[in-house]
Amino acid sequence: MNAKEIAARAALAELPAEGVIGLGTGSTTRLFIDALGELVQQGRRYIGVPTSEASRAQASALGIPLLSDDGPWDIAVCVDGADEVSPALDLIKGGGGAHTREKIVNASAKKNVIIVDESKLSAQLGVKWKIPIEVLHFAHAATAAHLVRFGTPTLRAGRTDSGNVIYDLAAGALADPAAIDRELHAIPGVVETGLFIRRADVVIVAKANGEIARLTRPE
Ligand code: A5P
Repeated sequence: MNAKEIAARAALAELPAEGVIGLGTGSTTRLFIDALGELVQQGRRYIGVPTSEASRAQASALGIPLLSDDGPWDIAVCVDGADEVSPALDLIKGGGGAHTREKIVNASAKKNVIIVDESKLSAQLGVKWKIPIEVLHFAHAATAAHLVRFGTPTLRAGRTDSGNVIYDLAAGALADPAAIDRELHAIPGVVETGLFIRRADVVIVAKANGEIARLTRPE
């Protein structure tokens, strides 16, 4: 097993015996959804809330029952990946462009479990990864002009599952990620940022040698 698979399998221990599970997006979560599908095929009663069309398609193919996108949902645990994890367990997400739906599902979960390999750990958010920002397609260049105040925005090719665009904002090391998150949200046209502040309850970090660390968010 590689580190991503080790982290994904370790997340199974965070699940209740049955219930509603938030299904994140990305290559690590994909391995978790595979493992959850095995449990469902063995008769375990889990129902999923997918955070992307890719996770929906995968879960459906595995026979995991899914709730409607409309919500509200009573999610026991949401399992998702991350692109960068700070010592305070704040996150940058959205490398796969799914962070808006991921944040909505995260906010409906009683417990949020993040699964990563150790390459995602960072001394400070922004050192390793740009901030993905989902922006309404209408006037997206005008919205990007406001983003310039914080760094260099680069338009990503393609559209999100919700038909929006993403700018990756190179803002450097973030001394106060919560503050920049608030300021970014104040820009008209910004749909959601990839900054996940105080949204991870547990971070499972797997190393290539098979060691696992289970980190919990400091209060
Ligand atoms: C999806 O938009 C992201 O938030 C992913 O959760 C994140 O990019 C982690 O993906 P990997 O597990 O593929 O690294």
